[in-house]
Amino acid sequence: MKVTVNGETREMRALWMEGEIIKFIDQRVLPERIEIFQARDYNDVAFAIKDMVVRGAPAIGVSAAYGIAQAYMQGRDLKRVADILSKTRPTAYDLFYAIRYMMDRIERGDDPIRAAEDYANDIVERSRKIGEYGNKLIKNGSRILTHCNAGALAVLDWGTALAPMRMAKREGKDIFVWVDETRPRLQGAKLTSWELKNEGIRHKIIADNAAGLLMKRGEVDLIIVGADRIALNGGFANKIGTYEKAVLAKTHGIPFYVAAPFSTIDRGIRNEDMIPIEERSQDEVLYAGKCRIAPDGVEAYNPAFDVTPPDYVEGFITEYGILRPDEIEKRFSP
Ligand code: MRU
Repeated sequence: MKVTVNGETREMRALWMEGEIIKFIDQRVLPERIEIFQARDYNDVAFAIKDMVVRGAPAIGVSAAYGIAQAYMQGRDLKRVADILSKTRPTAYDLFYAIRYMMDRIERGDDPIRAAEDYANDIVERSRKIGEYGNKLIKNGSRILTHCNAGALAVLDWGTALAPMRMAKREGKDIFVWVDETRPRLQGAKLTSWELKNEGIRHKIIADNAAGLLMKRGEVDLIIVGADRIALNGGFANKIGTYEKAVLAKTHGIPFYVAAPFSTIDRGIRNEDMIPIEERSQDEVLYAGKCRIAPDGVEAYNPAFDVTPPDYVEGFITEYGILRPDEIEKRFSP
């Protein structure tokens, strides 16, 4: 992805491996500062995923793949490391997919470092294809709404929901993006806006609860979001607040698309209600930055994701093309 530091623009990945060290753009401090978090062993990798130094389903998967390769280089017990990494975050399916991919390749006798690099490069290629297919949905002048961050920070290089927008812009289409701020962690306001700004894509951040007004006024042509886990029935989990956008979109006749690679599809889960939902610290809701915004002693509830049934989804933008929700099961059933 393009990153501009002190007026100078260069290409950077959300994470990469250098020798035995896994390096991450620290997403906790963007857009204020660009800092690199260095994971020196599997404990650091587990911390990076848990504390959201790195986040977004496919990027979490790549982190786990590199984490296992690193553990191999350091002579660790790989089964134990895989177990520790698999307990970092429960919802994003890519984490479990990547761990299984790595363990299978290692069992087959493949070099783990090669396998992790293959995994990362494969995700990049899949997201590039998602960009190509999704770009076909975007017209010159399209006003697109997105939720959370499903960009290059969450995926590598292209993104999922943001990949079609990147492609459209690079092809010369004039597009505009409404960016939901995405309370409580503000991935939209902090991360998606940062990526779009670096890419020169016109956009405005809106409070999460402003989307309904914009849809009613006819100011949204298309919605594209990412996914953390997709069930066989075409229901899916994504950042909290996605479901209400999908319901509003249907009410207002606005096409609602989900962009995600194969690694996000959980073929062992029949419907979206079976997806485990991560509950995060109350403090994410009770505080804005370091400042408490709620009265002392009051509690909050903080589910990090919600689930959307398939009836609200126009299509899934995948590396295999754009699929209707009912095509997920037909195509990917184990
Ligand atoms: O908690 P996060 O930031 O890891 O959640 C990520 C999301 O929910 C993204 O919106 C997303 O679409 C999945 S990652 C491409």
